[in-house]
Amino acid sequence: MAPEKAHHFTFSLIKFLHKIPGIAPILKAIYGFEHPKLEKTLFGLHFKNPIGLAAGMDKDAKLFNEFGNMGFGFVEIGTVTPLAQPGNDKPRSFRLPKNEALINRMGFNNEGVKAAAERLKNRKDKSVIIGGILVRIK
Ligand SMILES: Cc1cc2nc3c(=O)[nH]c(=O)nc-3n(C[C@H](O)[C@H](O)[C@H](O)COP(=O)(O)O)c2cc1C
Repeated sequence: MAPEKAHHFTFSLIKFLHKIPGIAPILKAIYGFEHPKLEKTLFGLHFKNPIGLAAGMDKDAKLFNEFGNMGFGFVEIGTVTPLAQPGNDKPRSFRLPKNEALINRMGFNNEGVKAAAERLKNRKDKSVIIGGILVRIK
């Protein structure tokens, strides 16, 4: 599957699974790991663990709670830009299997900061610490 297709497939799968009642606690039980030695309070925030998901996966703040259920101590949404933008023409991400690497030439495709802020404002579950990147493209 092309990398970007695999991304959207996985995204939809995680979203779909979380619609099934009882899945979230099961994922938490499977992927969650808590230990006092992993916990840290920084900037007035209590991190359950130091493992965060970097920007680029949940670009539009749509899946942060789900990733929280999968054990991440925090999730970085974005990069978002002031206005929605399509990013670079496809294909724009390429696998380098020999190097176990991926070329990311996405070009900050996102639905804009307002949409992400709305989702964050309306989130019911506030258990996940969220960071975000906003970039102004001149
Ligand atoms: C497909 C893709 C999209 C990314 N998008 C962003 C982004 O929007 N903003 C950002 O700051 N980093 C972005 N990154 C960089 C990642 O946050 C991370 O720094 C980089 O992938 C290196 O970490 P890794 O080796 O764990 O993947 C992206 C990376 C990939 C592979």
